[in-house]
Amino acid sequence: MTDAATTDVRVDLGSRAYDVRIGPDLLDRAGEEIAPLLARPRVAIVTDGNVAGRHLAALEASLARAGIAASALTLPAGEATKSWEALGRTVEWLLAERIERRDVVVALGGGVIGDLVGFAAAILRRGVRFVQVPTSLLAQVDSSVGGKTGVNAAAGKNLIGAFHQPALVLADIGVLDTLAPRDFLAGYGEVVKYGLLGDAEFFAWLETNGPALAAGDGGLRAEAVRRSVAMKADIVVRDETEQGDRALLNLGHTFAHALEAATGYSDRLLHGEAVAMGCALAFDLSGRLGHCPQEDTSRVRAHLAQMGLRGRLSDIPGDLPGPEALMELMAQDKKVVDGRLRLILARGIGRAFVTSDVPPEALGAVLSDALAER
Ligand code: GLY
Repeated sequence: MTDAATTDVRVDLGSRAYDVRIGPDLLDRAGEEIAPLLARPRVAIVTDGNVAGRHLAALEASLARAGIAASALTLPAGEATKSWEALGRTVEWLLAERIERRDVVVALGGGVIGDLVGFAAAILRRGVRFVQVPTSLLAQVDSSVGGKTGVNAAAGKNLIGAFHQPALVLADIGVLDTLAPRDFLAGYGEVVKYGLLGDAEFFAWLETNGPALAAGDGGLRAEAVRRSVAMKADIVVRDETEQGDRALLNLGHTFAHALEAATGYSDRLLHGEAVAMGCALAFDLSGRLGHCPQEDTSRVRAHLAQMGLRGRLSDIPGDLPGPEALMELMAQDKKVVDGRLRLILARGIGRAFVTSDVPPEALGAVLSDALAER
């Protein structure tokens, strides 16, 4: 076992630059970390019912030790909270709490809370600063960094939102110890994604260290989060609003969104599991189209299996629609441009690219084969 040390990854966006601080005990140190950002010693925290029970008291105590007054809003846990209704409730609460333009809002939770609170901060008084305190692995390596904020619409996930960068991200590696193994592994799906899209050496590192990391090694966890965040920061700095390279971060996501829609966004399939499945399908398709060596496709599948991650469609309980219906759902993804599906494929591990040139027959065949395994 190795211990985590604290490291910073800088997201170098000029006047909106910020640090992602990664390490142990950051929840206990949150007060002193946040204090330098404040114009007055007062913050508002928004969290959810599950996270509040585990971490809110520690955050409040830390803020109090730093002389910072805090009030908290606890929303229901779950994807349903990424809604207009919860957004309205949050903004009205922040106004009632008299959160001003120069104040800071703290998002304590996973991806749902981070996205919702970031969006609330983006529109409150035309924009206030916010601090992300991500409590899931998925939020630490992906959603808390990069400034994508928003809520879901009836027409699909994440269709309403804004780019609004946080002022600071505090990724406390210790809070990952409180996650259920399935949630941890689902977040690991996003970690693997980084190796697959742009860093073959990181993927090889995960093949070696993934099992010990999943078993609880803090040093390895911190290193996996740091490398994931560093890669994300690098891409976000190059392409903040996703005009180009940032789309690579969506490796596996068009498949994932279709599968999540097909399973009703329920706990039959968690987002990170869907991303892992989507990455494996993207590599299958890349192999079928001759872009990627078969050996790499096999390594992707083998690593997901080695980790015990639900990475195959056969891991989804219950019925799934057929390939045509899944393709129909993929076509509704917001990455569609001029009616053409844009997918992230790969020339090998660590070598993803964006393409609008995907023959529907090949996509259908990959989905049929994956469904036939069930
Ligand atoms: N989660 C993908 C992105 O932030 O661009």
